[in-house]
Amino acid sequence: MMNVKYHLAEDTIDNQDINSLIEWLKGGPRLTKSRLTVEFEKKWGEWLGLPYSVFCNSGSSANLLMYYVLSISGRLKNKKVIVPSVGWVTSIAPAIQFGFEPVMCEADKDTFGLDLDHLETLLKKHNPSTVFMVQVLGVPHKMKELMALRQKYGFFLLEDACAAIGASIDGKKAGSFGDMGSFSFYFGHQMSTIEGGMVSTPDKQFRDLLLMMRSHGWSKDLDREDHEALVKKYGIDDFHTPFVFYEPGFNVRNTDLGAFLGLRQVAKLDWIISRRQENHALYKKHLGDKFTIQKALPGAVVCSISFGALAKDTEERRRIVKALENNGIETRIFSAGNLGLHPFWYNRYGKASFPMADRIHHCGFFLPNNPSLRPQDVDAISGVVLDAAKG
Ligand SMILES: Cc1ncc(COP(=O)(O)O)c(C=O)c1O
Repeated sequence: MMNVKYHLAEDTIDNQDINSLIEWLKGGPRLTKSRLTVEFEKKWGEWLGLPYSVFCNSGSSANLLMYYVLSISGRLKNKKVIVPSVGWVTSIAPAIQFGFEPVMCEADKDTFGLDLDHLETLLKKHNPSTVFMVQVLGVPHKMKELMALRQKYGFFLLEDACAAIGASIDGKKAGSFGDMGSFSFYFGHQMSTIEGGMVSTPDKQFRDLLLMMRSHGWSKDLDREDHEALVKKYGIDDFHTPFVFYEPGFNVRNTDLGAFLGLRQVAKLDWIISRRQENHALYKKHLGDKFTIQKALPGAVVCSISFGALAKDTEERRRIVKALENNGIETRIFSAGNLGLHPFWYNRYGKASFPMADRIHHCGFFLPNNPSLRPQDVDAISGVVLDAAKG
């Protein structure tokens, strides 16, 4: 067993958060989704700059909701969706589960998001209704160019910012560009509610469907007038009203406990972002010339949960991983590598192999980044990597 000196991830829920949670619990509050959830959604929306947000139990559930809501919105011209090769299984799984036709896109050589030339080729070829993008690891993608493609080809954009909370480009936050954006508050992400996720949207129809789908397909969580309009439309009597299901829904709610933690995390989010940013910049200074890393574009604020880098080949990566483990520094593959090389994908569609995504798959590795990591820690970890790369 490795004696761990540096964990890849550390909790952002600190002792003060725990103590205040205990005090709050002693007051006998309602624990299920209630008032605090609504307050957290409001605060989150203010922080992000979007009017509507829906708190759920994971980033994966947030993605599930986005896909499903889009699929029942009545606004899709077809069920074709472009999906990224670099991201997470649940950036794609709901597309498969809900009968979309996913087509995989190569990774961009700079940000590791969607390769825009390949995307345009796919847009021309498939004319998809939907593009699902991932803001990879807190390094914002080329949004001006992507939004120009959206303008030209007219698709719905789902934006997975699950691992990019606090990243921004030209002052606009990751997760606020798409028709819907998702966030994860799992342990080790920029901020945590233990498990948790959020979908944010500028679109009222999507917001109403998100609220309904999060809780069984009922209308109770909608604004009063929207709830009453549905009750009237379907001619429902008072006794039945709370338990009428308008859509085949899920239950992917979070709780007011999660919301309590979320509110405390949002209050310190700016500090968390600046610490992660500083660590990222220091890693870049040490390793940026020697390794391929994600490029921050002009105007970008980077906020990573791990620092990702690509070795020159698998042999160099093997040496680096061994040296990191020998020095008690946790590491792992870069996110999930190329999702097109995972059985869940190739058993259905065949292997999706692309030069850049494959390189990320075979040569990528992660280094720890979290707010409590000090500059001297980043120096020490970088030193181990550089020594190992020398051979
Ligand atoms: C890009 C991306 N999307 C979605 C998720 C899923 O989030 P969760 O673990 O909260 O389900 C992750 C998890 O790391 C992720 O990195």
